[in-house]
Amino acid sequence: MKILIIGRGGREHAIAWKAAQSPLTTQLYIAPGNDGMRTINNVPVELVPIDEQDSEALVAFARDHAVDLTIVGPEAALINGIANRFHEAGLTIFAPTAEAASIEGSKQFAKDLMIKYNIPTATFQIFDQYEKASAYLKEVGAPIVIKYDGIAAGKGVVVAMTIEEADQALRDMLLDHNFGDGKVLMEEFLQGPEFSLLTLVNGRQVVPLVIAQDHKRAYDGDKGPNTGGMGAYSPVPVIPQEQVDWAVKHIMQATADAMVEEGCPFTGILYGGLMLTAQGPKVIEFNARFGDPETEVVLPKMKSDLIQHILDLLANKPVTPEFYDEAFLGVVLAAKGYPGKYGKGFPIRNLDHVTQTVFHMGTKIKDGECVSNGGRVLFVVGKGKTLAEAQRDAYEGVHKIACPDLFFREDIGWQAIR
Ligand code: AMP
Ligand code: GLY
Repeated sequence: MKILIIGRGGREHAIAWKAAQSPLTTQLYIAPGNDGMRTINNVPVELVPIDEQDSEALVAFARDHAVDLTIVGPEAALINGIANRFHEAGLTIFAPTAEAASIEGSKQFAKDLMIKYNIPTATFQIFDQYEKASAYLKEVGAPIVIKYDGIAAGKGVVVAMTIEEADQALRDMLLDHNFGDGKVLMEEFLQGPEFSLLTLVNGRQVVPLVIAQDHKRAYDGDKGPNTGGMGAYSPVPVIPQEQVDWAVKHIMQATADAMVEEGCPFTGILYGGLMLTAQGPKVIEFNARFGDPETEVVLPKMKSDLIQHILDLLANKPVTPEFYDEAFLGVVLAAKGYPGKYGKGFPIRNLDHVTQTVFHMGTKIKDGECVSNGGRVLFVVGKGKTLAEAQRDAYEGVHKIACPDLFFREDIGWQAIR
């Protein structure tokens, strides 16, 4: 089978790496990918220089090259309607339509759906005017969570512990329009351990994968600004399996069913960003795609064939994925300055000394040498019988990489390894 993967980061590298292990895969295309993905196991990989957003060109490519299955990474392409374009052309794609991707693209859509169908989430109010939002803030006080309603690359969320912090966030979003002209959600502050539950979904069929936890803050001890994610691990021992099972049924299955009822059935990866509160699991956010960097540990943990699962799911056949018992833990190496301003083109040495699996998040080959080409640059995956072993293994790999312009968190997995 010819498989096309759309995207360019560590998540897409992990999907390609997993697809390459499938006996069904004969050719892999990645559009646009990055130079670090040019050879994956023994499967030929062709990087296709088409932007993720260019749906027309991607449809034409898939048609001309007789691509059998397309898998999409980034949310912007989904929200733009890439799946709609592929369907119109009669091409097979594992991705939600633009309407279904609203579960990620519009916080209001997601919240309205959850309220209508009794899916547990934080209580909230939506505002488009600073004055009204500010009056509400005075009424309810802090802590409170302020979220920009739109795509803000994981940076449109402020967990404000004080009224002053909350007010500043409201000013940034509603007076200065720093993220755009969208509305703002003011949400109840929830507490408890977080976990990411990725499910393969087609209409009412929901297939859970193993849960993972990511680390959103830039620095050790969960300090510093929010990022796209600095590391991840699976399993997540602080979350009891019965709570996961509850969340699969009452959150993920309930949401997939609700989408069918609403006339916009979901196909693709439905990702629940969940928090285990004293009242049970609640939804922090939904994503309409593979999580990044959760995918980079969940797919290595998957023993069975992802491509076969996707094909079976699309054919409405039963799917029962299998996972290794080992623990997996991965560490992001990012350019110094990330998630703020950072440089590119830093030479990365000794990558060939690393025996652990490495996913390239943002690299490029320049004059025959691997150099950084993004904020998040590499993801090193460790594995072991326990999370502590997986952590040791990951950092052994990280420490072999020589690039003084990159930084990483030293404490990935700290919640689980004490
Ligand atoms: P999000 O981009 O919605 O995943 O939010 C980023 C992070 O902000 C989450 O991973 C949580 O740690 C935190 N967060 C979001 N919403 C809430 C909430 N209602 N209560 C507490 N923390 C939250
Ligand atoms: N790791 C969080 C996300 O993919 O949005």
